[in-house]
Amino acid sequence: ENKKHFRIAVIPGDGIGKEVVNEGLRVVEHLADTSNKFSFESDYFPWGCQYYLDHGRMMAENGLEEIKNHDAIYFGAVGYPTVPDHISLWGLRIAICQGFDQWANIRPVEFLPGIQSKLNHPNKEDLNWILVRENTEGEYSGIGGRNFTGRGNRKEVAVQSSIFTEEGCERVIRHAFQLALKRKRKKVTSVTKSNAQQYGMVLWDEVFERVSKEYPEVETDQWLVDAMAAQFVLHPEELEVVVASNLLADILSDLGSALAGSLGIAASANLNPEGRFPSMFESVHGSAPDIAGKGIANPIGTIGSAALMLEHLGLPDEAKMINEAIRATTEDGVVTADIGGENTTKEVTDSIISHLSKMY
Ligand code: NAI
Ligand code: MG
Repeated sequence: ENKKHFRIAVIPGDGIGKEVVNEGLRVVEHLADTSNKFSFESDYFPWGCQYYLDHGRMMAENGLEEIKNHDAIYFGAVGYPTVPDHISLWGLRIAICQGFDQWANIRPVEFLPGIQSKLNHPNKEDLNWILVRENTEGEYSGIGGRNFTGRGNRKEVAVQSSIFTEEGCERVIRHAFQLALKRKRKKVTSVTKSNAQQYGMVLWDEVFERVSKEYPEVETDQWLVDAMAAQFVLHPEELEVVVASNLLADILSDLGSALAGSLGIAASANLNPEGRFPSMFESVHGSAPDIAGKGIANPIGTIGSAALMLEHLGLPDEAKMINEAIRATTEDGVVTADIGGENTTKEVTDSIISHLSKMY
């Protein structure tokens, strides 16, 4: 049998990013040892805010070159209180997403057993939806500028433009339809704010309507984002695959994971579906400076992101096993403080690994 070998570029980043990435790698290592189906090597890249304070940049100058031949990128989180957030975000995470054309950001919202979710819903166990976020353009195109800066006369002007291309809309919308075909209900919900954003988001709506005609077996729905925020809370059973622009899906995914229990449990994949570049796997949360260094960060979002990584690398059974082990662990009540428990980061991972050992 062919044993696969992977090279993973590991970027722990800052704060709890460093703590949770190591836990995720422990889980992958355990699976590599016990499944005997794959092996992997981790190359560490010390990029992030400390690197910025030392070198004046968030990543090495030829950073993208250094990781472009890896099979996947496993990412923690970035952000330091002493470095402006727009510098840390643009200098590393967005630089990788845009540089490697990772145009589909997949963010599942899953309700885990045994934890207190903020949602008051009769059938929480049945809830499970997935956000597909456009990840390279839209509101995060980085086009704009500031003028009359620093004069102190309160007349400064800033322009921030969004870019919506027909191709960019189409590929991510199509990706959402493809995902829906594999799911139970086969439903795609598109979210915009095209009543107020009358150019880019109207183009998005038109592309959505055109593409949807090619998928008659898929049920569709189109919403404005403000109403959709309410729908997340009031009728989440109506959601299956939700596709939205960069900014809107960013906000909705935090809402979704908070409803499911905590930002700490939300996983994500930044995909370059064509495989021209490596894809990147990371939790949805940030570097959480308020709890960094205490050993109490919830590792589930990052471990779930490792499952998305294994699935992407052609190991769907192993991915499923990780998700089952996560569910068994929360069901046992082995959880961190953010979801009402007392366990440490390491104890949660240990429990996930011990459930995994029972599966082989
Ligand atoms: P955050 O996600 O870091 O934290 C928000 C709240 O959720 C905090 O109270 C934190 O303790 C809690 N939390 C987050 N993840 C948790 C986990 N795994 N376990 C337990 N509790 C958890 O967002 P915030 O505070 O807005 O940003 C902090 C820094 O992170 C900023 O510098 C921001 O720019 C950066 N950031 C980076 C992201 C990335 O690297 N992808 C994404 C979001 C924020
Ligand atoms: Mg976010």
